[in-house]
Amino acid sequence: MAESPLQRYRYFLKDSVRKTIDFSRTDQHQGVEPPPVEKPFAAETPRVDLVAPDAWSGIGPVDVETAIRRRQSHRQFSGEPLSLDELSFLLWATQGIRRQLDPATVLRVVPSAGARHALETYVCVLNVEGLESGFYRYLPLEHQLLFEFQEPDARRKIVHAAMGQSFVVQGAVVFFWTTIPYRMEWRYDLAAHKVIAIDVGHVCQNLYLACEAIHSGTCAVGAYDQELMDQLLRVDGNDEFTIYLAPVGKVDGTRAS
Ligand SMILES: Cc1cc2nc3c(=O)[nH]c(=O)nc-3n(C[C@H](O)[C@H](O)[C@H](O)COP(=O)(O)O)c2cc1C
Repeated sequence: MAESPLQRYRYFLKDSVRKTIDFSRTDQHQGVEPPPVEKPFAAETPRVDLVAPDAWSGIGPVDVETAIRRRQSHRQFSGEPLSLDELSFLLWATQGIRRQLDPATVLRVVPSAGARHALETYVCVLNVEGLESGFYRYLPLEHQLLFEFQEPDARRKIVHAAMGQSFVVQGAVVFFWTTIPYRMEWRYDLAAHKVIAIDVGHVCQNLYLACEAIHSGTCAVGAYDQELMDQLLRVDGNDEFTIYLAPVGKVDGTRAS
C-alpha cells in the first residue's frame, strides 16, 4: 500500500535516516573546513555591548523548582520596558557561551547535538531601555548585539508574517531563531535536520524559564509564514531561515499557579 503523506512526514521524527548515511562521506570526514560557530559580520557594523553575566542586576533570584512550576505561555504583556540587563540575561540564558573548546566548537548554556549549535538569534527591540528600536543579532562570542536594520512599520509586518498573531508585538522584544543548517549538516548530513529542531526547543524552554527571573513572560510561536518571515529578517531562506520565534514582555505579578 502506498505511504500516506502523514506516514511519509513522520519519517522526519525518526532516526531511521542515520542508517542510510555514509558518515565517511560527510564534509567533516572529507576534511572540509568547519563552518564558523557564529555567522560572520562586517567589523564596521555598529555593535552594542551587553551587560556581562557577572555584572547584571535586577535578575532573580528564583529557584529552579519555582521557575518550572510557574512557566506558562503568556500572550498579554503589561507594556513596561525591559532593561538592558534583562535583555542581556535573556540572550545569555538562551545562547550564551560557556566555553570555547577550539575555534570551531563552543559549549553554550543549552545542549546541542554534537555541540554544533546551528542557530542564530535575532531580536526586534520594541521597548528596551537605552536601546534604539530595530532588528539586532546576538553575537554569543562577543556577548554583543549587532545592529542589523531598522524596519519601517515593523510591528505590522511582524504580525503579518506571524499570520495575524498580534500578541507577538505587544511585548518589549521579539526573539527570532534562524538556523544555518550547514553547521549541523557538516557533521551529520541528512541526520542534521531533526536535531536542529530539537535544539531550538531547548533554547526556547530556557527563554521561558529565564523569563521567570525577571517578571516577564513569553510564548513559543511555531506558526508563521516562512517566506514573509525570512524576507523580514533579510535571510536567504535556504542557507539560513527562520524556525521559531517568541515575544517577551513584562507580565503582572499575579500569576496563575
Ligand atoms: C512548538 C510550539 C509551537 C507553538 N506555536 C504557537 C503559536 O504559533 N501561537 C501560539 O499562540 N502559541 C504557540 N505555542 C504555545 C502553545 O500553544 C502552548 O505551549 C500550549 O498551549 C500549552 O500552554 P503552556 O505553554 O501555557 O503550558 C507553541 C508551542 C510550541 C511548543
